[in-house]
Amino acid sequence: MKISCCFLLILLALVGFKENLNLLCSADPTDGFTAVPLTEANFELQKPYDIPLNERYGFKNGVRRLWVYADDKPHDPNSRTQPRTEVRIKGLDYSSGVWQFEGYGFVPNGTSGATVAQIHGASHGATTLILRIYDGNMRYYSGDLVATDLYDKWFRLNIIHDVDGGMVTVFLDGEQKYSTADKGPGDLYFKCGVYAAPANISYYMESRWRDIKI
Ligand SMILES: *[C@@H]1O[C@H](CO)[C@@H](O)[C@H](O)[C@H]1NC(C)=O
Ligand SMILES: *[C@@H]1O[C@H](CO)[C@@H](O)[C@H](O)[C@H]1NC(C)=O
Repeated sequence: MKISCCFLLILLALVGFKENLNLLCSADPTDGFTAVPLTEANFELQKPYDIPLNERYGFKNGVRRLWVYADDKPHDPNSRTQPRTEVRIKGLDYSSGVWQFEGYGFVPNGTSGATVAQIHGASHGATTLILRIYDGNMRYYSGDLVATDLYDKWFRLNIIHDVDGGMVTVFLDGEQKYSTADKGPGDLYFKCGVYAAPANISYYMESRWRDIKI
């Protein structure tokens, strides 16, 4: 592949088709997508209801840091869900078409049993996609392995949801890592941060995010 790309590069450079070459040789998950302009209004924060935001969230130099403890309260006094500190992308709920989330994530060593990114909504169940970190590895819910060895490093995460085609695809650092059927259309939106899994969770959970695009 590499060789044929180099060959094409020379060939296409010679005939001046540089842009075509980009498409052929450096396919990127964002190719063909148009980024939606985001403002802070698109970033709604969910955090334990009884704790001020600044005790679970920081936003500095473009980096959002979100953390939560296993014994924290849910985001709402009437909710029986697990503790979370999460960005909920707001104003861009979707129910059809093809949508993409991009963000650079960082999970410190020690955080385990935490959902760091998700697609909320589905026709069956509450979520379409849950990406959890267990012991440094990323899993689809608590099952399929998506990527390994992610502690203490920035990784680029791209999630493509083809609602019409019923598929979700996950890319790490530009490389396709996982693809699965979705769970049917619904009121869909992206989230990232930390949301405790039902079991096998570390006491402290944190993830950081920057350069989020939809
Ligand atoms: C994470 O921390 C544990 C305990 O300090 C250590 O044994 C392990 O090597 C660390 N893992 C990474 C990827 O740094
Ligand atoms: C929790 O971890 C144990 C031991 O590794 C494993 O057997 C169990 O299936 C895990 N539970 C869940 C819900 O992931």
